[in-house]
Amino acid sequence: MPRRARLFAVVPAAGRGERFGSRQPKQYVELLGRPVLSWSLGALLAVRSVRAVIVALSGGDRRFARLPEARDPRVRTCKGGARRELSVANALEALRGEARDEDWVMVHDAARPCLQPSDVRRLIAALRDDPVGGLLALPVGDTLKAAAADGRCERTVPREGLWRALTPQMFRYGVLRRALKLNLERERTVTDEASAVEALGMRPRLVAGRTDNIKITLPGDRGLAAAILRAGRDSSDENRSRLRRPRI
Ligand code: C5P
Repeated sequence: MPRRARLFAVVPAAGRGERFGSRQPKQYVELLGRPVLSWSLGALLAVRSVRAVIVALSGGDRRFARLPEARDPRVRTCKGGARRELSVANALEALRGEARDEDWVMVHDAARPCLQPSDVRRLIAALRDDPVGGLLALPVGDTLKAAAADGRCERTVPREGLWRALTPQMFRYGVLRRALKLNLERERTVTDEASAVEALGMRPRLVAGRTDNIKITLPGDRGLAAAILRAGRDSSDENRSRLRRPRI
């Protein structure tokens, strides 16, 4: 009888966030009193089928150990790499001997704190029997422009069939290892796992995600993420009080 595939999560959190422009890396910037990384980990840890979360940290990271999530028995750390995909590859290496090729690995950016556990569960449900795996993504809604070096429109790019890749992205452990290894051998830089898997000739499934699963990249994103988290918190408070209201 085939063994049931298990699910591991990987969180690359070793970036310096240069485009964000703050003194501290963006994964440690506070949102409603909690660092970005703490929110991102919280969404993954809320899903019970996630067996372990491997967080890739930059050398000399002293902040992670102070997060409450660092004490969660499912959370472990490994050393990050010089690029995002190298951080992910190190986390996969840390799972060697424990994860089997057919197990699932879900990779989620530390810089996406607004992820909802319901989105994680939907991704898992959509991919459970998928031979390849896939990712949360959003159909492009805006008109797309290709820019010339002088900041003027070169042309308009048809948006039909175009999606924005989000995270988490979820692939079989064996497939993802092979994909990242090939990618390194070819000395290609990729910005997500799906593009490495596509280079193997596979076609990851696109699973529609939420528009509020934003990545903190530029300074203005912090306020937006805080507003999204505040709205989520307020609506769950409201839901709770609605549930408590006595029936008349
Ligand atoms: O810079 P960017 O927003 O694309 O980074 C996406 C994620 O990859 C972030 O969570 C960042 O911390 C992580 N990263 C990493 N190692 C690097 C560069 C980025 O873990 N060398």
